[in-house]
Amino acid sequence: MSSFPSLPESEQQDAEYNNICNNHKHLLETLPKANGWKNRHLYNYNGFWLSPLVLKTNLLLHTYFKSHPTDIFLASFMKSGTTWLKALMFSTLNRHHYTFSDHYLHKHGPQSTFPLLDVESYPISDFTTFSPPRLFATHFARSLLPSCITSGKFVYVCRNPKDVLISKWLFMSKLRPKDIPPLSLDEAFELFSLGVSEFGPFWEHVLSYWRASLESPKKILFLKYEEVKKQPEVVVRKLATFLGKPLTAEEEEKGVVGEIVKLCSFESLRNLEVNKNGMEKFGKVVEIEKRDFFRKGEIGDWKNYLSDEMKERIDGITDDKFRGSGLSLREMI
Ligand code: A3P
Repeated sequence: MSSFPSLPESEQQDAEYNNICNNHKHLLETLPKANGWKNRHLYNYNGFWLSPLVLKTNLLLHTYFKSHPTDIFLASFMKSGTTWLKALMFSTLNRHHYTFSDHYLHKHGPQSTFPLLDVESYPISDFTTFSPPRLFATHFARSLLPSCITSGKFVYVCRNPKDVLISKWLFMSKLRPKDIPPLSLDEAFELFSLGVSEFGPFWEHVLSYWRASLESPKKILFLKYEEVKKQPEVVVRKLATFLGKPLTAEEEEKGVVGEIVKLCSFESLRNLEVNKNGMEKFGKVVEIEKRDFFRKGEIGDWKNYLSDEMKERIDGITDDKFRGSGLSLREMI
């Protein structure tokens, strides 16, 4: 019996890549869509709202990402403290490689410390040169990730939804192309409440990691932005242990924890020249002004934007969604 000759590897890969592109095109034509915050439209893929670009990288991730048992992932809903956690995880893990007076983070933005898989999943060949443990960030809800990733270790950082909503609305408004009418706060509020925002619904996103952290507390370190803000030193110690490099008595004596906290604080990162000017590149197509990752860095800035009625509505949704889960984000603000 004759069989087709198999394709050489690069052509096979191209064929696979073309398949994904076709599938992506088909999905964009068939999935439910709604108004986006940055892009004109978001698409509901397996329960979560994604932009066309990250929907495509999600498909690529499922095909091309090869995990390693020592990989560690930072997951978060957008605007929940990803930049800060990137800096904290990187400087905690690599504290023996740099001095605190001449540190990598003095010359490079926190975004460059490790890749955001959502926009940097193809080509993935670069990742194989990373030395273990490899660090990756993602905004995808847990159920959208391939099982080779969810079997790894995760740090998840969440933040109270009212600050997330305001931070995200201001951030996305800056990125929104000028040929689309601006998104008003009322519209953003309405969309957010309905769960429609990039990587959302917010509540299902948080719960996807919260529930997994209850099932596997050793594999998922669940943090709250507000807790990092209030007790950064406690969090650095937790991170060090979780990353497999607990602080030694000697390091404690030398004040290493305080140095990490100071290096990664909002004030020190925001005031570095490297974070004030220029663009941060994510993959080939996403470019964001570096300074836009550092706005106010406070708990409760929503009070300057949301009416009492808006506050009540978000709190009500949060209570309903989190009821019975054991999770509360109320006590932090
Ligand atoms: P605000 O817009 O409320 O100021 P992400 O990194 O997930 O995009 O989240 C961005 C939010 O974290 C922004 O919130 C930003 O200012 C804040 N942030 C960035 N670096 C921080 C730091 N080192 N400490 C505290 N907050 C920080």
